[in-house]
Amino acid sequence: MELAILAKCLLLGLVILWIQIHGNKGCFETERLALLDFKEFVGSNGLDVDYLLSSWVDNSMSDCCKWERVMCNSTTGHVTELSLNNTRQYDIERISFYDDKNIWFVKFSMFQQLKELRSLNLSYNRIGGFIDDTNFETLSELKKLEVLDLSTNYFNNSILSPLSNLTSLKTLILSDNIMEGSFPSKELISDLKNLESLDVSLNRFHSTLPFQGKL
Ligand SMILES: *[C@@H]1O[C@H](CO)[C@@H](O)[C@H](O)[C@H]1NC(C)=O
Ligand SMILES: *[C@@H]1O[C@H](CO)[C@@H](O)[C@H](O)[C@H]1NC(C)=O
Ligand SMILES: *[C@@H]1O[C@H](CO)[C@@H](O)[C@H](O)[C@H]1NC(C)=O
Ligand SMILES: *[C@@H]1O[C@H](CO)[C@@H](O)[C@H](O)[C@H]1NC(C)=O
Ligand SMILES: *[C@@H]1O[C@H](CO)[C@@H](O)[C@H](O)[C@H]1NC(C)=O
Repeated sequence: MELAILAKCLLLGLVILWIQIHGNKGCFETERLALLDFKEFVGSNGLDVDYLLSSWVDNSMSDCCKWERVMCNSTTGHVTELSLNNTRQYDIERISFYDDKNIWFVKFSMFQQLKELRSLNLSYNRIGGFIDDTNFETLSELKKLEVLDLSTNYFNNSILSPLSNLTSLKTLILSDNIMEGSFPSKELISDLKNLESLDVSLNRFHSTLPFQGKL
């Protein structure tokens, strides 16, 4: 009799333990789908995504926290870091990188489900702009974003005003793009109150100083 009760308690305990271990294991479905949106976008540009993002499989049992280029907080299971740099995996030293004239226009709202995202690297992707860059609301959803690397793309000045909505940014890297005019843009700097480091080198700004370093 007592043994039966003990066995039941033990079983219940095991079930609770199992739920605790598995409950926040694996990524969130909304985040997994957001990442698959990006994969689909890359594929729609004619790239072999089953090679380039081979671990990103469309299967609800697949834990996106284990995918290449993705890092999650191990406690919360939310995606916190995305290294989507050089998605085409070119040897960036080679001429083939500069020969590819396929410029991407990315929908930034793809990332809006990743509410815990802290770091996003989109460098070396030949991105010409965010097609929804007038949608300020989308950008301000990323309340935790601290590091954004957009270097070595084809961003022009139209990116600057929407970026000012990413108020949690501490590090912003915009080097090697095609921005011009006078910099620093007062608007950007006054809105990004948490900014500690800004790199706008290798653009076409008038400024005589290479504007790079700590603010
Ligand atoms: C993971 O998230 C928890 C809860 O938000 C936070 O306390 C912790 O610092 C995070 N861990 C890392 C490595 O960022
Ligand atoms: C992306 O950048 C990280 C450094 O932040 C580097 O370790 C990694 O090799 C880069 N990935 C590609 C495909 O270039
Ligand atoms: C982003 O990726 C580029 C290219 O791989 C790398 O050089 C750079 O260090 C990365 N940026 C950050 C903030 O890690
Ligand atoms: C910036 O790039 C976008 C996207 O290519 C384009 O629509 C816009 O006209 C450009 N703006 C300037 C000021 O060059
Ligand atoms: C985004 O920034 C624009 C201009 O910089 C500002 O007018 C708007 O109120 C901001 N929106 C949000 C949701 O922060």
